[in-house]
Amino acid sequence: MKTNLNSANPSAVETECLAVVVLDRGEKDKTDAFADSSDAAVQAATKDVIASGEATGKPLETTLLHHPAGLKAKRLLLVGGGKAAKFSAADLRKLAGAAVRTLKSRGLRSFAFAVPQSLNAEEAAKSIVEGAFVGNFEPDYYKSDRKDQKIDELTVVAKGDLQKAIDEARIIGESQNFVRDLVNEPSNRMTPTILGERAKKMAQEVGLKCEVYSTDKIKELKMGAFWSVAQGSDEPPALIILKYEPAGAPEKPMLGLIGKGITFDTGGISIKPADGMEKMKYDMAGGATMIGAMRAIALLKPRVKITAIICATENMPSGKAQKPGDVQIAMSGKSIEIINTDAEGRLVLADGLHYAKQLGCTHLVDAATLTGAVVVALGYVNAGLFANDDKMYERFQTALNKAGEKMWRMPLDEEYKESIKSTIADIVNSGGRWGGSVTAAMFLKEFAEDTPWIHLDIAGTAWTEEAKPWIAKGPSGIALRSLVEFARNFAG
Ligand code: BES
Ligand code: MN
Ligand code: ZN
Repeated sequence: MKTNLNSANPSAVETECLAVVVLDRGEKDKTDAFADSSDAAVQAATKDVIASGEATGKPLETTLLHHPAGLKAKRLLLVGGGKAAKFSAADLRKLAGAAVRTLKSRGLRSFAFAVPQSLNAEEAAKSIVEGAFVGNFEPDYYKSDRKDQKIDELTVVAKGDLQKAIDEARIIGESQNFVRDLVNEPSNRMTPTILGERAKKMAQEVGLKCEVYSTDKIKELKMGAFWSVAQGSDEPPALIILKYEPAGAPEKPMLGLIGKGITFDTGGISIKPADGMEKMKYDMAGGATMIGAMRAIALLKPRVKITAIICATENMPSGKAQKPGDVQIAMSGKSIEIINTDAEGRLVLADGLHYAKQLGCTHLVDAATLTGAVVVALGYVNAGLFANDDKMYERFQTALNKAGEKMWRMPLDEEYKESIKSTIADIVNSGGRWGGSVTAAMFLKEFAEDTPWIHLDIAGTAWTEEAKPWIAKGPSGIALRSLVEFARNFAG
């Protein structure tokens, strides 16, 4: 999707459709909605449809007018933004996505979005572009009659020097959709090897260092936890390392981004039920998110060193697969008793976290579709966030707010460690049913140790179960925007 900036008055913009936000002033009489624009012609053009009660400003309500009087646009799309007092740039992202989805389903290929008067123009322009990219993604890759109905060109209508904000937002939007592309692929078309190749190709395009290793290197590094998952599969695993080392960046801090890249999770010998197992192709979403984040980082160029490590493998049952009761020695030297082979994500991450520290990372963030338990706790709305460092958590929370993503901090009290004690080894890989997302995080904490670390459990949020007005059903690309925002702040 091309993105343009037009600083004319909205009413003077020639376009297939001009989108304008309508807000609700929140008073009780019937005409309390209004167009969030300083353009008198836009006010005049929206007056009647608002007075009729057809456009109320209700969140995500869309009203389409043809030949709006006094405007150069062929159509006018009113998008409801909710209560005026609460309207934010995060809301606007969804409205832009909803505008894209409404218009492309009507066969339009281009439109213009007027930056609302009530928001900071730079933030608003960024939201419009990011939200439009999110709305433009469709997961129907393998449909023979795929229409490829997409918006090709978006014009942001605003005064001021917003070109940089728009260009940066495009990088973020494209990177988020790059993640969704990777996650959307089924496991026969997204093996660990293919994921490694996609990372390599991307790295070449944007100028990142990329190394992809397999079985030999994993054994050489003594990544016993990672290998224990990989050993059951005929597909070779991939240890993907992406390095961003900008000239002039200080030696420290160095941020490590570690991703769970299970390209298919059958559960292994502790096999999952058939019902819904097809969804386990998205168990590499954390890894894909880190690859996409590195793409955005390489293009946005913050002055800080960042290394991403993606541990990619299938989790399969076979004659070579690990079994419950087996004991594995992780790269860090800790011994792990395998209680449940379906708790494989924490095993690959254990070695990923340790390796990141060995490569010099001073701060760690991991992302993983780690537990069903986080879905029980937080549903599909918030991702689970765990942190062993309050300062790092606060910085991440700032990034979340800016990115408009929802995550909820969960506890890591020492008491939970009881659940992962083993009689035969240092720890077990499953703390059982209760507090499952917390005990999984406690397991990871054993490998992050004292290094400031954040763990994002995106099992409930990496896949949108039902289409929303602003986003298709399927991979969501959650966490990319916050990670990139966090990385950029980390530099300054
Ligand atoms: N990949 C799953 C978690 C998951 C569940 C992701 C639902 C997306 C949607 C993970 O590897 C897993 O199987 N976790 C187990 C852990 C248990 C065996 C301790 C779980 O959550 O049931
Ligand atoms: Mn599993
Ligand atoms: Zn898994």
